[in-house]
Amino acid sequence: MSSSGNPRPLPFTVDRVPDKELSRLRSWGFSGHAEIVRTNPSRVSLPPAYSHLAHAYYNFEFRPDDLVLVTYPRSGTTWTSELLWAMRNLGLLERGEEITGGDRTTFIDMDFLMPSCADDDNPKVKEFLTLFPEGRVEDGVVLQMAKSHKGPRIMKTHLQIDLLNPDLLDTCKTVYVARNPKDVCVSLFHHGKISKMDPFEGEFPDFAEAFMADQVMYGPYWDHIKQAWKLKHHANLHFMFYEDMKRDIIGELTKLARFLQLDFTDEQLKTISDHASFGRMKSRHERDASGRNHTPGFFRKGQTGDWANAASGELTAAMDRWIADNSQGTDIVFKYK
Ligand code: PPS
Repeated sequence: MSSSGNPRPLPFTVDRVPDKELSRLRSWGFSGHAEIVRTNPSRVSLPPAYSHLAHAYYNFEFRPDDLVLVTYPRSGTTWTSELLWAMRNLGLLERGEEITGGDRTTFIDMDFLMPSCADDDNPKVKEFLTLFPEGRVEDGVVLQMAKSHKGPRIMKTHLQIDLLNPDLLDTCKTVYVARNPKDVCVSLFHHGKISKMDPFEGEFPDFAEAFMADQVMYGPYWDHIKQAWKLKHHANLHFMFYEDMKRDIIGELTKLARFLQLDFTDEQLKTISDHASFGRMKSRHERDASGRNHTPGFFRKGQTGDWANAASGELTAAMDRWIADNSQGTDIVFKYK
């Protein structure tokens, strides 16, 4: 909504990616999408269901007690969302309760990543239709359920900030996590091998070429990061790096707690970080093998520097040039080891 109370018109268009470009994506190995849409001029590639929901995302009303996590995919979203949930639900951890499944935070992108209209068995759709018998599934089950949720919400999205409600930061606290582009690229590639939503069947050099050409879902990578980076001094934005979290999780949790205006003892911070350690999250995920949210191999390595194991010298040189070109005019410094 704008200050006048009316929905804001979209300041961008959402257009079908031409067949010629789809053929190129298929020739690289992207096999999942018969159709892709792209925002213009920002050139963010998204599944076709996004086109009729773009307006709903852009006008989604955040509330002052919301906590929103924004990330480019494969940058530490799942880890950070577990940390945020644990920080707000410490009592549950201390009582030893470990709720499994992905329902602790709301991944609002699900409405276009996995349009549930076609899936009558989806428990979320059933719940939605019980609550809203007249509700329109095609308007986004997750978005509408989030809208009707009473109380503080933790929501996460991979949509870049410019595609979200412009009131976001003036309304609620937002955490942005960035990860170095080399490891994001490797992690995305491996994720494509196991992903049902966005499968990739090709070779790593082709994937890396598509990534650097801003052709993969949610691209362009640099715009995503730069939009958040330029807002990093906003009182309601906390910018974090995956690599810093790997290096010193307690230090990063201390800063995050300060941002969230939460007080924890050293022991509590340790409890939170242990709860969301790679090993414990991976084993909880594996124990939940029958769950709807289960993806075998989702928790892959959880390390910094895996690019070195995946890329040739030639590809590394191309990636380094791409990073240098895109780093001009910005003071973002990534760690690669
Ligand atoms: S997604 O699919 O976009 O939501 O992926 P995302 O959660 O953003 O990132 C997945 C990568 O994060 C690693 N991961 C972790 N690293 C450290 N600690 C914890 N707890 C953790 N949980 C997930 C995950 O293994 C992916 O990285 P790679 O390099 O592929 O292992």
